[in-house]
Formats: sequence, C-alpha cells, structure tokens
Amino acid sequence: MKLTIFAATGGIGRQVLEQALAAGHDVTAVVRNPKKLPGEVRGQVRIVTADLADPDPAALESALRGADTVLSGLGPRRKAEYGIVSKGTRAIVQAMQATEVRRIVVVSAGPIGTVPSPGRPKPPKNDPGDGFFMRNLLSPLVKAALRKPYADLALMEDILRDSGLEWTVVRPPRLTNGPLTGTYRTAYGRNVRGGLRISRADVAHLMLRVLEQPETIKQTIGIAY
Ligand SMILES: NC(=O)c1ccc[n+]([C@@H]2O[C@H](COP(=O)([O-])OP(=O)(O)OC[C@H]3O[C@@H](n4cnc5c(N)ncnc54)[C@H](OP(=O)(O)O)[C@@H]3O)[C@@H](O)[C@H]2O)c1
Repeated sequence: MKLTIFAATGGIGRQVLEQALAAGHDVTAVVRNPKKLPGEVRGQVRIVTADLADPDPAALESALRGADTVLSGLGPRRKAEYGIVSKGTRAIVQAMQATEVRRIVVVSAGPIGTVPSPGRPKPPKNDPGDGFFMRNLLSPLVKAALRKPYADLALMEDILRDSGLEWTVVRPPRLTNGPLTGTYRTAYGRNVRGGLRISRADVAHLMLRVLEQPETIKQTIGIAY
C-alpha cells in the first residue's frame, strides 16, 4: 500500500513508520524536521517537510497525491503546542479532500468519548468501558489536568466525523515505550475494561492492522492490554 505518515518522528509515528517499512509498504513520511528521522530510514522513504502549525496546502497535497491511506501520530510536544492536533488534522483533511485520498487513521486518547466538543456538546457522562475506579477517580483527575489537549483531540474527532472521509480513531490509555507484542484488547466505541496502558509500538500495530479491516471505518477504537 502507499501510505503517507504524518508526525513520523514521534513516539507512535516512528513505530508506524518502522512497522510499515517492515511490512513492505511504500511510505511517504511528513515531518517538520527530517534530521530527526533515523539515517537508515531516510533512504527508504519519500520525505516531505511540513510544519502543521503553519500548513502549506501545496506541500500537503504533494505528500498525499497517489496515497491509499494516511496515518497520523500528531501530538503536542509542549504546552505551547496545545491545539496542534485539530489544526494539523484540519489541514490534512482539506489536503485529502483536494487529492481524493479517502482513508485516515489517527491517534486520540481514552477519555475523549466523554469530553464535550462543539460537534458533541453533550457526550455520555461515562465511557461504557470504564469501571468504577476509572469513572470516579482516574478519568476525572486526568481530564482536569489535561483539559486543553483533550479539547483539542475532541475537536479533531469532530473534524473527522464531519469530513466525509473513511476515518478510524484509535483511543489509547497511558502510553509506554514497551515492546511490540501484537497481543492486546480492542473495543469499538468504548474503552477496554480495566485497560490502563498500551505501548506506542502496539498502538502503531493496530493503526496498520485496521487498514485490512473495513469494519473499522468511521469507528473509534479503544485499545489496551
Ligand atoms: N502520553 C500518553 O500517555 C498518551 C495517552 C493517550 C493518548 N496520547 C496521545 O497520543 C499522541 C501521540 O503520542 P506520542 O507519544 O507518539 O507523541 P510524541 O512523541 O510527542 O509525538 C508527537 C509528534 O507530533 C509532531 N508534531 C508536533 N507538532 C507538529 C507540527 N507543528 N508540525 C508537524 N509535526 C508536529 C512531532 O514532531 P517532532 O518530532 O518534530 O516534535 C512528533 O512527531 C499524544 O500527543 C497524545 O495526543 C498520549
């Protein structure tokens, strides 16, 4: 498959890139700093440089032309970058619409199903996958601490829902740098019951796996061990 990977220098993005190359896909990596790509990878991918804080539609369209699928691990590196996920994804969606690329897989976060957004002002109070501890203790604490980045992710999900594209949103709990196992639980439209963590490598694994699973189109998917 021809894949265009955004944020291929990030924790999840780098895993998506490496696993996609290992699986024999034809990869275009869109990054803001190509020097951050490992030397051995640079020769194996087409590289497009783009800062999604100041998106250049022509550069994004050139990165997308002819692609079958877009994968994005975009996220803020620091507080000053909160807002980048919705802004960047909006630019990616517009470039996809211009180039008639239909499929996109992105990373969101476990609590977002219960975070209000302009498109979903009254989400359910609790995620059906969350148990007592998550509902009453962990989720409220984390949502209070991460209000702004979560509002950004919720807005990104709005943008995808309204895009007319074939999107899949992966919602992980706490990310780790643990190994690729390929063995994890998933749940459509809700979080995984009792699932507190997942490695970035396994999130990337699911993001590539869903490309073979048309039933994942227009779905949010919880993932955890
Ligand atoms: N941390 C958690 O436990 C957790 C849990 C659930 C969900 N999440 C979500 O998962 C996301 C991805 O996680 P991660 O660990 O892979 O994140 P990460 O390592 O911080 O990677 C973020 C990626 O976004 C890129 N990026 C940021 N601003 C950009 C811009 N203006 N233009 C182009 N690229 C830009 C970064 O590029 P550079 O390499 O150039 O900086 C990097 O490639 C998080 O941001 C968060 O929304 C996180």
